[in-house]
Parts: sequence; C-alpha cells; structure tokens
Amino acid sequence: MANNREIVVTGGGTGIGYAVASAFAQAGERVTITGRREKVLTEAATLAGARPVVFDAADPAAVEAALEELPGGVDVLVNNAGGNTDLLDGDGDGEEGLAGFAAAFERNLRSNVVSAALVTHALRDRLAEGARIITIGSIAAHTGAGSYGAAKAAVEGWNVSVAREFGSRGITANVVAPGLIGETEFFHGKLSDRRRDRLIGNTMNQRAGTPDDVVAVVTFLASPAAGHVTGQVVHVNGGAYLGN
Ligand SMILES: NC(=O)c1ccc[n+]([C@@H]2O[C@H](COP(=O)([O-])OP(=O)(O)OC[C@H]3O[C@@H](n4cnc5c(N)ncnc54)[C@H](OP(=O)(O)O)[C@@H]3O)[C@@H](O)[C@H]2O)c1
Repeated sequence: MANNREIVVTGGGTGIGYAVASAFAQAGERVTITGRREKVLTEAATLAGARPVVFDAADPAAVEAALEELPGGVDVLVNNAGGNTDLLDGDGDGEEGLAGFAAAFERNLRSNVVSAALVTHALRDRLAEGARIITIGSIAAHTGAGSYGAAKAAVEGWNVSVAREFGSRGITANVVAPGLIGETEFFHGKLSDRRRDRLIGNTMNQRAGTPDDVVAVVTFLASPAAGHVTGQVVHVNGGAYLGN
C-alpha cells in the first residue's frame, strides 16, 4: 500500500467502513472517518487511529458544513455510508398510502446514492491528481431488493459518469459490490437464520463474506497499480451474483 495519503471513509464507524479505515490507518495513511452517531464514530476513530468528522452524508447542508473539517486534499475517497433503510425505518407499509411508499423509497435513494454523489461532488476540487474514488454498492443492484437494490443499481450508473468526468485527471472511480458480509450492523438484527443460510447457499464457496474480503479489493483499487481500472463494478460475493 502507498502510505501517508489522505483517505476519507464515509460510514467508517462500523462494519465494512471501519475495517477499511483501520487497514489504511495501519498502513500509515492519514484517515478521516465520517458518520452520524458521534459516540460510535469517536470511539471507532480512537480504536482505528483515524480522525472523526460527524455529519449526515445524505444531507446537503450537513455535508457543506462539514467541509471545513474535511481534508483540503483527498487521495482516496471511499463512499461507504449507506444501508437498507427499510430495515431500520420501515418500507412505507405503516405510513400513509403512496406518500409513505414514496418517502421510504426516497430514504434508500438518499442513503445510498445521493450520499455518495453529494460527498464526491463536495470534494471534487480537493481530489488529488491520480486520486481514487471507491463506492460500496451491493449484489442487490442485480438480485433486487426493492428501493435498496434500485439505489445500489443507480450507484453503478452514476459511477460510470464519475469515472468519465474525472478520468483526465488520472482519477479512477469504481464500485465494490459485496454480497452478504458478516460483522456489520447492516441487518439491524433482522437477518433470520433461514435467510442467512439461503444467502450462503447462493455462494460458490459456501460462506458469508467478511469485512476483510472487501478491504482486500478496496485497497487494491486504491493502489497506484490499479490506475487503469476505472468505471468498473468488482463483485465480492463468493460468486453468488452469478446464481447457481
Ligand atoms: N453487510 C452487508 O451484507 C452488505 C452487503 C452489500 C453492501 N453493503 C453496503 O456496505 C456499506 C457499509 O455497510 P455495512 O455492512 O458495514 O453496515 P453498517 O455496519 O451498518 O455500516 C454503515 C455505516 O454507514 C453509516 N451511515 C449510514 N448512513 C449514513 C449517512 N447518511 N451519513 C453518514 N454515515 C452514514 C453508519 O453510521 P451512522 O448510522 O452513525 O451514520 C454506519 O457506520 C453500505 O453501503 C451497505 O449498503 C453491505
């Protein structure tokens, strides 16, 4: 790994983002992690050896306000913040009619694709020559998961335009699309044993992924060696993406 670079990992307080931030910090990079829960974030930052900046990546005013605390130059941006908001805030079923459905749908779009686009746009002039933009997508973009899958599919389309827009500056933009990854808060305790077994059964290596499986791909895409890999989606799901 190159070191002493300036790295920003959104949603770096838990799960995949935390593992990515820790790996970069251990390699001697300067790491900033972001998230909404101050206590979770500051404790994670202390453990990982990173700097915490608390803000909601899906809120334009909050991103704007956070800019002065974010690094003036960014070598690697990992847009990791996100998750299936249906699992935490509901899928609109308990809310009023179509308005409730639309509100739930928009929550997933904001959480997963607007957040990545907003932070990338806000930092666009701070990205160094040859910088790396890595956004965490999901197998759900292809296997479907209502508005969450739609949001992660939108991430892939958006990523292509980012790769094109920044390519002349030697900047790459890629999506890493995990399948089931353990040791995260993603399911908020709502993953049944039956569903877990089914998701593992869909993999070719018959196991759940780990945050470190994702770290390995993120660190490669962030490396100088990966300069000709851009606009891509790299799947980290034990082949589950291909069906069996
Ligand atoms: N775990 C899986 O099986 C899996 C599979 C495919 C893709 N993914 C994707 O992997 C990424 C990381 O998720 P994870 O699995 O590591 O779950 P996680 O442990 O829930 O991590 C998500 C992190 O993002 C932060 N976050 C969420 N929304 C945010 C926002 N609007 N602004 C700032 N921070 C925000 C959360 O912190 P706060 O709540 O404090 O903000 C949390 O630390 C997500 O994009 C997720 O969709 C996960």
